[in-house]
Amino acid sequence: MTEPGGRSPIGVFDSGLGGLTVVRALLHDLPHEDLIYLGDTARVPYGTKSREAIVRFAEEGSSFLLGKGIKLLVLACNTMSATALPELASTMGVPVVGVIDPGVEEAIRVSVGGRIGVIGTSATINSQAYRRSIQTRRPEWLVFSQACPLFVPLVEEGWEESEVAVMTARQYLAPVVAQGIDTLVLGCTHYPLLIPTLRRAVGTALRIVDSATQTSREVRDLLARLALENPGPASPMRCYLTDIPPSFIGVADRFLGRPVTHVERVSLPS
Ligand code: DGL
Repeated sequence: MTEPGGRSPIGVFDSGLGGLTVVRALLHDLPHEDLIYLGDTARVPYGTKSREAIVRFAEEGSSFLLGKGIKLLVLACNTMSATALPELASTMGVPVVGVIDPGVEEAIRVSVGGRIGVIGTSATINSQAYRRSIQTRRPEWLVFSQACPLFVPLVEEGWEESEVAVMTARQYLAPVVAQGIDTLVLGCTHYPLLIPTLRRAVGTALRIVDSATQTSREVRDLLARLALENPGPASPMRCYLTDIPPSFIGVADRFLGRPVTHVERVSLPS
């Protein structure tokens, strides 16, 4: 296989369709880049699985994308970024960008009081990856974390702005809000769709950090530093899924904000 260069695609990998929120930001910031998306829709959610299973799935999906000649891998999934990023970064042979450090950098930029709330899947919160990343940069800052396992199914069901979602958000967030946080980091691909609901639950004073936007900026800067930008024009994104569930079109359109085309079902190498 030839060495990937500027014209090679960027691989974007998520456990399911939530990573399309990162694709949305990439399409906005990097319109000349070719994107290949892989969603492991047959095995989603990863956020409730063991670390061993998540690392294995992450390796299988990444090998698949590497086989497509990608020049850079975006792990557009907080759960994988929290548990499998170091392993992948040392073995992939192309740069790997996760979603945690970009979100943390932004939280550090916007926080006024150094009291940060982090919400995510159980695997992400249990890994303590956000806490470590924040306290490596700001050891004196306080981090209050909360797993919110009901948020992913609520968003997938299209209920992100329902009264049920507002009540769920109030219940999950009450303990972290009681700690006097000034910034809330959305540590899950699905949560950007919950921003209006989170605002209703916690008010408008809290700064809310969405790592999708920051991740795409980091990719843009990294490609520029490595002189790996694509002069364009870009081809339509290819979307590979390990299953095409009946709900696919509606869910994918909501995450991406436009229809997803060029979809193919694939099996991952084990
Ligand atoms: N993509 C996952 C994340 O960002 C959420 C869905 C899952 O649990 O697999 O953590």
